[in-house]
Amino acid sequence: MDFPIFFLDFFGNRMLIAVIASVHVFISHGLAVGAYPVVTLLEWRGWRKKSEEWDNLAYKITFVLFIVTTSVGALTGVGIWLSTSLIAPFGIGSLLRIFFWAWFVEWFVFVIEVVLIVIYFLTWKRWKEGAKKKLHIGFGAFLSAFSWITMVIITAILGFMMGSGVWPESRSLFSAIANPLYLPQLAFRTSYAMIISGLLTWFLIFFFTKRGTDFRRRAVRFASTWILAWVPLFVVGSFWYWNKAPEAMRANIDVALLTQRFAQWHETLALIIAVAVIAIVIVALVGVIRPRMIPGIALLIPLVLGVWLLGHFERVREFIRKPYIIADYMYSNGVTVSELQVFQRDGILPYATYVRNQNVTDNNMVEAGRDVFLVTCTRCHTTTGINGVVSKFNNLYGEESWDESAMTALIHTMHISRTFMPPFPGNDREAEALTAYLRSLRSNPELILDAHAGWARRSSSGTPSMAGADGRKR
Ligand code: HEC
Repeated sequence: MDFPIFFLDFFGNRMLIAVIASVHVFISHGLAVGAYPVVTLLEWRGWRKKSEEWDNLAYKITFVLFIVTTSVGALTGVGIWLSTSLIAPFGIGSLLRIFFWAWFVEWFVFVIEVVLIVIYFLTWKRWKEGAKKKLHIGFGAFLSAFSWITMVIITAILGFMMGSGVWPESRSLFSAIANPLYLPQLAFRTSYAMIISGLLTWFLIFFFTKRGTDFRRRAVRFASTWILAWVPLFVVGSFWYWNKAPEAMRANIDVALLTQRFAQWHETLALIIAVAVIAIVIVALVGVIRPRMIPGIALLIPLVLGVWLLGHFERVREFIRKPYIIADYMYSNGVTVSELQVFQRDGILPYATYVRNQNVTDNNMVEAGRDVFLVTCTRCHTTTGINGVVSKFNNLYGEESWDESAMTALIHTMHISRTFMPPFPGNDREAEALTAYLRSLRSNPELILDAHAGWARRSSSGTPSMAGADGRKR
């Protein structure tokens, strides 16, 4: 079977993963790992003080968590798998092989977590009295521990992607988990999750309690204390994490925080981030000392800031590990470090399964160039959409003069000055073909559409190719 590589032109492949993953990160951190301890504490407080008010607030928040985590949360979790296996099958495939049992356990724990969430919420009104209420609170504590364990496991895999440590040589699971980024990242993510859940609690207090009441003040004080309690670990975790990040990654930070064009603004952005964090801490301080003084708006905005910060953090983490998808082992385009030289000698097309042209000839330059583009650039670039390659070349050369030999030479050397791009995994002929495709794309944007249509027609009669289990020719 011969079908095109998954390519979402305009929106961009990496944007698709980014959107799904960012929503998931917010829910998994803020509405699961961080939030269940908060509602359990609230419930416990209500029980100890024999107060319906606290219990009701806890129940209402849990209702929101229940709906969101079991729907959007679960769907985006599966969505990450779907999108990554379409867009980066070699990357996710390698991680699966390395972490098979770890991931097996992760899924097992995850399913249990969902079951616990369902039980915790649905038994709330029934297990109200005496020993049953105690059991219910214990259940909440158990659920909180379980959702944290999902983070303990997944952080090992995320850390591995940033710094694989001695794994490329030793190839042992233990060396993959015991990497220097693990504990700092866990400290950072745990405290972050707890703080986000505190911001979410502020947000929901605005809707679930009445303005000006004594109960709102007490609830605000509770959430503010919770947030402040996690700030020290958050500060330590952030610095520790940053210091453990490999030097090569830190060099990417200016483009990672914004884009190349706005890179010189990265310090301004860093300042804005610092101010946002400090503003949240100040609101929390006032919330503890003088909860009466906190206006409604100050309960709502911090969550928006928190979501933005979390999204930005994930962007930076994803970006600074470029050009790798798995540090020192596999580049972001799915080519492993050990394959690179072979591809640069023989070309990548002869080894690629899902392409029409397995070789570059004088007659198929543009067509084969399109194949090269699909295999080597589309993990990160579109043609004319988000991070579109045409506008990148326009920025470099202007719209008029796209010099052929200069472009071909640039393709081979781009990665040296733009450290976020992997080395071009093809030979000279393929670089020429890619240039031909890009040039024809510029002079005739309709070619994008034509090429797509032609592609679909021809590939239905394409010859079957020999694919290995991972979709790569052996
Ligand atoms: C790992 C992801 C990735 C891959 C793969 C990749 N690029 Fe890029 N490329 C980027 C990023 C990120 C930028 C900078 C975007 C920005 O901030 O403006 C960039 C920038 C560029 C630029 C502009 C450079 C400059 O200095 O202005 C060109 C040209 C370019 N890429 C071409 C290509 C071509 C051709 C390929 C395929 C052979 C490719 N890229 C593969 C991520 C990638």
